[in-house]
Amino acid sequence: MAEGDGPTPARGARVVLFPLPSQGHLSPMLHLASALHARGLAVTVLHTAYNAPDPAHHPGLAFVAVPDVIPEAVAATTNGIAKILALNAAMEASGHVRGALASLLAEEAGGQRLACLIFDSTLFAAQKAAAGLGLPTLVLHTGSAAGFRLFRSDTYNMLHDRGYLPATESNLHMPVKELPPLQVRDLFDPSKLPNKEIVQKILGRATESTTNSSGAILNTFEALESRELEMIRDELADRGIPPFAVGPLHKLTAAPSNDGADETSLLSQDRVCMEWLDARGPGSVLYVSFGSVVHVTADELVEIAWGLANSGVPFLLVVRRGLVVGVDKQELPDGFMAAVEGRGKVIEWAPQQEVLAHPAVGGFWTHNGWNSTLESIYEGVPMLSRPIFGDQLPTARYVCDVWRIGVLLEGVLERREVEKAIKKLMEEDEGVGIRGRAKDLKEKVRMCLESSGSSQLAVDKLVDHILSL
Ligand code: UDX
Repeated sequence: MAEGDGPTPARGARVVLFPLPSQGHLSPMLHLASALHARGLAVTVLHTAYNAPDPAHHPGLAFVAVPDVIPEAVAATTNGIAKILALNAAMEASGHVRGALASLLAEEAGGQRLACLIFDSTLFAAQKAAAGLGLPTLVLHTGSAAGFRLFRSDTYNMLHDRGYLPATESNLHMPVKELPPLQVRDLFDPSKLPNKEIVQKILGRATESTTNSSGAILNTFEALESRELEMIRDELADRGIPPFAVGPLHKLTAAPSNDGADETSLLSQDRVCMEWLDARGPGSVLYVSFGSVVHVTADELVEIAWGLANSGVPFLLVVRRGLVVGVDKQELPDGFMAAVEGRGKVIEWAPQQEVLAHPAVGGFWTHNGWNSTLESIYEGVPMLSRPIFGDQLPTARYVCDVWRIGVLLEGVLERREVEKAIKKLMEEDEGVGIRGRAKDLKEKVRMCLESSGSSQLAVDKLVDHILSL
């Protein structure tokens, strides 16, 4: 085990963390690892060879590679649910995670007690392996508190029992009165889900692994989701499971690197775009990025491109490799780069947090992955919301209807609609109110992160809880 060269942990206990190896899940787990280490715990991160974090970027943390539990075919699939199920099945079959945990427990003889495993909520096989060894577990939910309540087996069954699901053309706009402000179309996109039994299975196992744990950690903050957190506290109280709202995790501790780069990024970030932003006026640029896993079709990318071009708004567009399914490097339409010369820049992967913090950025066209959403909220940047699947759908509803810091872009992607939505956010009166509310929320998130703010206090409580296990 490689121990980093950071400060020596003072609390006499070690925690082991196991992230799902995908950018949107890996980053918050690594940020949590840094926060716990900064509070004096020794931290070991278990990881797969697939999408492995770089230990050099995390001084102070120890890293243990679990012999690979992701068959190549599983790593290659673009179906997230299939990937999660196959990964868990492979973990159970190989026994590698159990083996890695058993070795860490055996090392306790060296004097440092292994207090618990903190696992990503999708890695239910890891919870089972730890429980089999008598090691307590805490679950990290990397999404919102609203998502925590939605993606549970009891909620899924209730939505079927009460006739909301399966969704039909006629009930898509129906409010789900049990889960305000959600509508049926925000729940589960039927075109992107496998059958009901598979969804029940995955939600059932994920729910069980939470209820079998000694605590739930959520990457959200009180001022953002106070109502949802209150309900979660009530729901988990009966089972004696304390929830800890410690978000936004990416800002909980100061980044150790001093070049401003995101040390958790799996891809190299193109920092040349920062100079390009330096030359733009305040609040003038729309930043466009759809995270690390969603796909668009080649036709949709053409509509996105011409919508941006026709809007007249300066933009920084991220077209990551593989954004269009089956295409490594998608060409933009003929004539597009000439049409936007001097006004638009296209890159493969951005230093997103720095981009959002740049004064030139006035809007973020996002798929509303939870990390992107929190990063935008932290910088007070209003959003153009285009959710694609899963938790992105309810998150976009909260962004646009509850926090009212974004404009929703729905329906078939078509260049005229894209142009209209961009102008609405960046130029029209509606955008003024949205920008004002985004600034107010920015103040609130920063208060949560101050030394006596709710998220810092929640981490203190989390550490006390870990030490009590
Ligand atoms: C996935 C799911 O799609 C999302 O719905 C869920 O909430 C988390 O897991 P992903 O699609 O990658 O995540 O989106 P998101 O959660 O927004 O995370 C993307 C991360 O990549 C962010 O931390 C962002 O800063 C980073 N990023 C993105 C870059 O560093 N550069 C980029 O160009 C784009």
